[in-house]
Formats: sequence, structure tokens, C-alpha cells
Amino acid sequence: SSTTNKNMGDKGDKTNKIALDEAKKLAARTAVDEWITEDTKIVGIGSGSTIVFAVQRIAERVWKEGALCDLICVPTSFQARQLILDYNLNLGDLDRNPIIDIAIDGADEVDSRMVLIKGGGGCLLQEKIVASCAKHLIVIADYTKRSLRLGEQWCKGIPIEVTPIAHVPIKLKIEALFGGEATLRMALAKAGPIITDSGNFLLDWRFVAKREFDWDEVNRALMMIPGVVETGLFVDNAHKCYFGMADGTVKVQN
Ligand code: 5RP
Repeated sequence: SSTTNKNMGDKGDKTNKIALDEAKKLAARTAVDEWITEDTKIVGIGSGSTIVFAVQRIAERVWKEGALCDLICVPTSFQARQLILDYNLNLGDLDRNPIIDIAIDGADEVDSRMVLIKGGGGCLLQEKIVASCAKHLIVIADYTKRSLRLGEQWCKGIPIEVTPIAHVPIKLKIEALFGGEATLRMALAKAGPIITDSGNFLLDWRFVAKREFDWDEVNRALMMIPGVVETGLFVDNAHKCYFGMADGTVKVQN
């Protein structure tokens, strides 16, 4: 992996920080303009707050600039589907569009090797499926998501989507295998477990950040536990990451 900036983990100029939303917007618009061209037929639309700026930019190109009129957008969540509909873009699905040119998505943390933690918004299963169907996954994020090692930024841990009946044995197996603590993600006011778009539960595994992990191995081991549907570890998926930085620049990592 390489990056245009050697100061990995640097949070930018603290005296002149742009707002986080501005940083997200900068990353999103830059990535859309570099990757979505008239040759792009099908785009995967990720989930979260940063992707909203990417969809807004796509819509601007369609509705203000009269470009990308045939672009088909495949959503990664209910939220993404709503965004596509709200901006009156062409809604696609994996039945009709199983091969995606570019998927654009956010991330909760990105390390120096471009391993991602995703699923903060609970959409990791569909996000990983769409990413796996895309020729390239382009990640957009603000500067707080950029780390040398996973665990620097994302204190909530790695989201793991599980079959509801198995959440307790899976929690115990993860903790026995790798330590740390896996907790069931609850809705606000502890009204019950969060249910994903695919009807599953989420465990957030807070791993021991100081421990050295081979994330590819960890991901494979987690996927071997019966009842684990998908993990929020994206090990070999991202092609490029665009970070909106605190100083108003964009850093590209690949
Ligand atoms: C949702 C995700 C999001 O892409 C991730 O949480 C980043 O979100 P945001 O753009 O709001 O920082 O993985 O499941």
C-alpha cells in the first residue's frame, strides 16, 4: 500500500480544521468526479453519512449538468435505496446488474494497508456483497477514519452480523478465539437488539487494540463460526481511499 502523505495517522492542522461534514463532502465529490464518467454504467451506492455527499454530486451531474443519464445505482441498504429514490436516480439491483463498475462507500476506519472496518451503520452484509460484485471499491471518508493500525479510531470495535439464535454462542466463541469483548448492538434506550436490513443481529467486537492481528486470518476464522453471516472487516476489497483532510485537501491512499 502507498499513500500520498507519509504522515499516516496525522489528524491534520488542529488550528485550522474544516468541519467534518466539509471533509466528507470533499472526499465524496472528488471520488465521484474521478471515478464516475460517461463510461460508468453501474455504480454501487454505499451507506452512511459520507455517501450522501456522493449521491448529491451524482445527482448534480445528472440533473444540473445533463450527464450520466443512464447511470444505474445499486443500493447497499434501505438508506441507500431511499437516497437513490429521493434524488430520482435510476435504481438497480443485483438480479439485473450483477456486475458493478464502481462501488463507492464510506468506512469507519482504514489502516495503512487499506483494511477497512465497516458496518457502523449496520449495513455491512449488503455493502460487502455489492463491493464483491464491483470491479473497484472506492472508499470515501473524513480524516478521523485514517489510522496506521485498526483500533486507533474505531473504539466501538468490529461489527459482525449474526443469525439471531446464535448471538450468545458466537459472542463466546469470538472472545475465546481472540479475546476482547463482543456485545450485542442494542437499539436506542435498549429497546431491543438492532435488526439489520437482512433480519439479523449485530455483535460489536471490541478487540484488544494493542494486540497484533492478521486481519485476513481473523476474518476467515470469524466466518467459520456457524451463524456468522458476515463481518465488517474488509480485507482485500478497497481499491482506493479518498480522505477529506482537516486542512481542506484530499489524500488518496491505494
Ligand atoms: C455503514 C457503513 C458506513 O459506510 C460507515 O459506518 C461510515 O459511515 P459514515 O460515512 O457516516 O462515516 O459501513 O454500515
